[in-house]
Amino acid sequence: MIENFDVIVIGGGPGGYVCAIRASQLGHKTVCIESRGSLGGTCLNVGCIPSKSLLHSAEMYYKANNEFDKIGISTGELSLDVSKMMKHKLKTVNGLTKGIEFLFKKNKVTYIKGHGSFLSKDTVNIKNIDGTENNIKGKHIIIATGSSITTLPNVNIDEKKIVSSTGALDLKKVPKRMVVIGGGVIGLELGSAWMKLGADVEVVEYLDHVLTGMDKEVSESFYKILKKQGMKFHLSAKVNAIRNNSDGAIVEFEKNGSNQNINADVVLVCIGRKANTSGLKLENAQVEKDSKGRIKIDKHFKTNVKNIYAIGDVVAGPMLAHKAEEEGIAVAEIISGKFGHVNYNVIPNVVYTHPEVASVGKSEEELKKSMIEYNVGKFPFMANSKAKVNDVAEGFVKILADKKNDKVLGVHIVGPDAGNLIAELALAMEFGASSEDIARTCHAHPTLTEAVKEAALAVDKRPIHM
Ligand code: FAD
Ligand code: NAI
Repeated sequence: MIENFDVIVIGGGPGGYVCAIRASQLGHKTVCIESRGSLGGTCLNVGCIPSKSLLHSAEMYYKANNEFDKIGISTGELSLDVSKMMKHKLKTVNGLTKGIEFLFKKNKVTYIKGHGSFLSKDTVNIKNIDGTENNIKGKHIIIATGSSITTLPNVNIDEKKIVSSTGALDLKKVPKRMVVIGGGVIGLELGSAWMKLGADVEVVEYLDHVLTGMDKEVSESFYKILKKQGMKFHLSAKVNAIRNNSDGAIVEFEKNGSNQNINADVVLVCIGRKANTSGLKLENAQVEKDSKGRIKIDKHFKTNVKNIYAIGDVVAGPMLAHKAEEEGIAVAEIISGKFGHVNYNVIPNVVYTHPEVASVGKSEEELKKSMIEYNVGKFPFMANSKAKVNDVAEGFVKILADKKNDKVLGVHIVGPDAGNLIAELALAMEFGASSEDIARTCHAHPTLTEAVKEAALAVDKRPIHM
């Protein structure tokens, strides 16, 4: 007999598992189908969490090696146990994925370990990981199948010498030379982690700048900081081939009309990700895709089929875990007759290197393009006491406010703990705050948040500490 559910969620990543929990909280009989054998999706298993674990460990090692002595802490010679570092990373990941299983039980979400595909508009076939197979029916079906790696034509990712982010999160030793193809978020985060663990890292980027889409001034400043840290760059460079050799691989690229080669022990290919739609048998439900192969949805996350919705990396928009989560909650509320909504103008974006980069709202380039006049308030961490105390005084906070009414339109930070600092600004923007609202709010001393207040004061050209 076929079991009936109110809500079937296909995919147990941040979009899917959060959607399933919220749908169950709202009284729906809910099931979540996940094929990888553990919950949390790309984010927990091979993305956000393991990469941040590695970045944190690498920064600790780097500081112990390079900065402790400056403040009078002697360590003697340090040694690095990569396998132990990886075990620690795995322990964190396992703890968190098991935590979601607990949340499913607590919220009465049925969890099925298997691969889901459409048999029709309301029936899903499941190939369970134990080899069995069954079908279930759902009033509402949510596609939350996420995204996966892309590679270059004719380049085979073996996850040893030529790796994707997944392989780069699991290297057995620090490579002597690592070449990163793509100066986007993954390339700079993972490149930075391995550089701080001792690798020589060279980034080959097709465009003339890194972190495309970020505010240009922030991207340029961050580029200089990474160069100062020792990362090497080949910008405006097109990779033509990657060839295996006995020691590793050779990357062949073209720059200014000339061909160049770099030898590497490990090549990390990170040139973007693609939506996971193959294997879903969308044709059986007649669900349409857009021109980029993502599931096509309207502004209420509904596909062209009225009971089928899609969220997260499998649809258009930034590929971010928190964006997927917000969409998951919104869709669960919409199918419950509530007013689920995601404010795409206020999605923070963070790069977790040291220093961090964080932004929310519009960049200067976007405001210029939309012909919106704005004022700029900037404050350097060099003039912030807490940043000086912690010896992390690189970077700045930049606030962009509407010239007409002072409303905050965008904030861009490169500097210490930028990812946490941006939360205040996202909240301010949700409330429609002006820069004066931020400037008149008392910020604790000594904290990094004072740099935010000072940047807000600087919009009106009246910073105190600069
Ligand atoms: P996913 O997390 O991809 O989850 C989809 C799940 O669906 C997967 O587990 C997959 O196994 C399952 N699935 C697919 N097809 C089927 C099927 N037919 N049946 C059953 N199950 C299926 N984002 C951030 O916001 N912050 C970060 O710091 C960050 N770091 C990242 C670092 C790396 C290295 C990578 C690769 C990504 C990172 N991201 C980060 C992006 C983030 O991981 C994704 O945006 C997020 O995971 C998307 O969530 P999702 O639920 O849409 O999809
Ligand atoms: P990306 O889109 O951020 O960067 C890819 C880069 O590769 C671009 O700069 C592009 O110009 C370059 N590129 C493309 N083809 C190339 C070629 N042939 N040769 C050289 N360069 C080439 O994609 P990335 O880094 O793979 O990350 C995928 C997604 O994962 C991101 O969109 C991001 O949303 C998400 N992510 C988020 C993180 C975070 O929030 N901290 C961390 C890691 C990933």
